[in-house]
Amino acid sequence: MSKLAWINEYNIDVPDIDDKMKALFEGMNRYLEYDDKRRKEEDYDEIGEILADISEAVRQHFAHEERVLAQFHYPEIAGHKKEHRRFVKKILAYRRVYSEEPEKIYKDSVKYIKEWLVQHIKDDDMRYAPFIRVQKYLNDHNAQSRRGR
Ligand SMILES: [Fe+2]
Repeated sequence: MSKLAWINEYNIDVPDIDDKMKALFEGMNRYLEYDDKRRKEEDYDEIGEILADISEAVRQHFAHEERVLAQFHYPEIAGHKKEHRRFVKKILAYRRVYSEEPEKIYKDSVKYIKEWLVQHIKDDDMRYAPFIRVQKYLNDHNAQSRRGR
């Protein structure tokens, strides 16, 4: 399966959010490397560790993004958080049964995580991006004019 490439249209233009998502893409690309390989039994320990890393990167990214959405009072935050929870649950479920069926879990999770990330950026993150950009602009602008007074 092809790797994930960051393209400009994925930029939310809130620096930390973009950086955290890029880190997540990198983690996912490490995971995807095993898709082209003929996997050996010992690879599955490594793959399991990468899945744990992805899960941690996801947790950090979502927590940060949700803080930003709350800070700017994004009106659709509840639905957005729900999407995040759905994904977190699914990754936890994969991790829980990983040791029982690593080959199957790996294959299923590669497809699911990759598709979910791209879809979430396009459908959900892109939805709040213009709102946050405007709110951020107004905040910065107000702060500037307060300083100018
Ligand atoms: Fe999100």
